[in-house]
Amino acid sequence: MSDRILTDEMIDAIRACIQRYPTRRAVTLPALHIVNERLRHVPPRAVVEIAELLELTPAEVQDTVSFYGFFKQDRPHGRTRVWVCRSLSCALRGADELWDYFFQRAGIRPGETSEDGRLTAEFAECLGACEHAPCMLANDRLCKTMTKEDIDAFLNSLPADQTQDSGTANSRPCAT
Ligand code: FES
Repeated sequence: MSDRILTDEMIDAIRACIQRYPTRRAVTLPALHIVNERLRHVPPRAVVEIAELLELTPAEVQDTVSFYGFFKQDRPHGRTRVWVCRSLSCALRGADELWDYFFQRAGIRPGETSEDGRLTAEFAECLGACEHAPCMLANDRLCKTMTKEDIDAFLNSLPADQTQDSGTANSRPCAT
């Protein structure tokens, strides 16, 4: 099928999960992560194809997508995806002003992706690292006790083009 969005590699990875999980339905979330890690979003076509693989209806898979709110569907998130913490410990250590500075410097609003596709940044609730407040997550890397200088360094360190894609497995760009 020429318009298939899942690659053979994605399908193999999902099938490998099917072997390890008690039911196909239980593979829904892992399958969404497999696709999201590679495409940086889960478009509706991928939902349909995942449903076929798991012998579910597209609506059942879409329910999971909608419930978590983590997966973007309209377009890929940035090559670096940042979650800035807005919960109490971080707020008490100046996060509100800090994140205002972050978004102003990045030229985006919370939830948006930069025009060049390098960065998506969003608010998150407590990241479970209050002792490092104010902190943020850049892909899978925790950036601790952030300052405005750290934000400048972080934004300046973002890979400039797609050949330096930071992906979700790599996540080099935390400067602290
Ligand atoms: S409040 Fe920010 S990590 Fe807990």
